Amino acid sequence: MKSVQSFLDAIPMPAVFVETQMRIVGANDRALALNPNAKETRPFVLVFRQPSLGSALETCLASGAAQRAIYHHTDGPHEIRYEVTLSRVQGGEIDGCLLCFNDTTHLKQADQMRRDFVANVSHELRTPLTAILGFIETLQGPARGDQKAQDRFLSTMAAEAGRMNRLVGDLLSLSRVEEEARVRPTTMVDLVQLIRSTVRNLEPVAEEVGGALIFDAPEEPHKLAADSDQLFQVFTNLIENALKYGGKGTQVTLRIAKSPHDHVLRVPVLRISVEDTGPGIAPTHIPRLTERFYRIDSHRSREMGGTGLGLAIVKHILNRHRGRLAVESTVGEGSVFTVILPLS
Ligand SMILES: Nc1ncnc2c1ncn2[C@@H]1O[C@H](COP(=O)(O)OP(=O)(O)OP(=O)(O)O)[C@@H](O)[C@H]1O
Ligand SMILES: [Mg+2]
Repeated sequence: MKSVQSFLDAIPMPAVFVETQMRIVGANDRALALNPNAKETRPFVLVFRQPSLGSALETCLASGAAQRAIYHHTDGPHEIRYEVTLSRVQGGEIDGCLLCFNDTTHLKQADQMRRDFVANVSHELRTPLTAILGFIETLQGPARGDQKAQDRFLSTMAAEAGRMNRLVGDLLSLSRVEEEARVRPTTMVDLVQLIRSTVRNLEPVAEEVGGALIFDAPEEPHKLAADSDQLFQVFTNLIENALKYGGKGTQVTLRIAKSPHDHVLRVPVLRISVEDTGPGIAPTHIPRLTERFYRIDSHRSREMGGTGLGLAIVKHILNRHRGRLAVESTVGEGSVFTVILPLS
């Protein structure tokens, strides 16, 4: 059945044709890559040993009605999920069932990510909301007429509402960055000047925590194509973190330097580092820091008004600039967050 083979070869996903006795007639290269045993005359159920697929094939052949089944394939550490469509095909010398394997792993993952995201957002909003509702109840009941308590509760409520406001702001900014992810920035920006103004902006925050903010600025400008508002946000987030988590009296130092070669990006780069003298970060946390809502000490971070979105935003902005973030840290000594941006 040569004609069956050329049809199978034309199908843009793994496809197998099985005759009425459930023996394989042909398989395209993609199907052979999935299972090298899918050769002519082999019994299908011995090659694809998943009962749900076998019984769907039986039903399809017996009833003539199209069937669907799920086929799980393990490829090293990866679990791939195929949605298999089984269609009865009859005509001329062709008589059997066509199985097409549609890889739906990414759909399933996207679905899971969306669900996690909604769950996280709801949880983050619910915490301050529950607190506010609790205070309103107290103000209406036990604290009615108690001026001192009222003032205290109102300022806590304002702080909680501020947190919700920041969360919504961060989410909007994250989705804006994602929207523009494919548009490369074209304006030339002097990073030295940009960092100077970020530092100036955050000096009051440094004073508040009794810390020091030092920028070792070079004389000459360091220019590259960038979105200045977004990079302003990147350095603001990194410096804010350094001051916030560095603890009282932390010293935050910024440095900028060109490097002729980055071993990951493989081009000449500009490296801007934000170094703090804080408690440091244990190695297990480092790869997860840029995940949305990831916080090492969620209670402590939440107390400081953190939503765990700051570094996720940083990562997205750097992706848009074809750059990357490198994190090095020694527990008890401090952390260095380095922004690496390609110069060409
Ligand atoms: N310089 C640092 N030193 C120690 N821990 C840090 C530092 N920077 C970040 N972290 C840890 O990484 C976590 C994630 O940081 P991120 O900026 O994404 O969120 P956040 O600061 O909690 O909230 P947000 O930035 O949205 O207000 C923080 O909660 C904190 O635990
Ligand atoms: Mg932060």
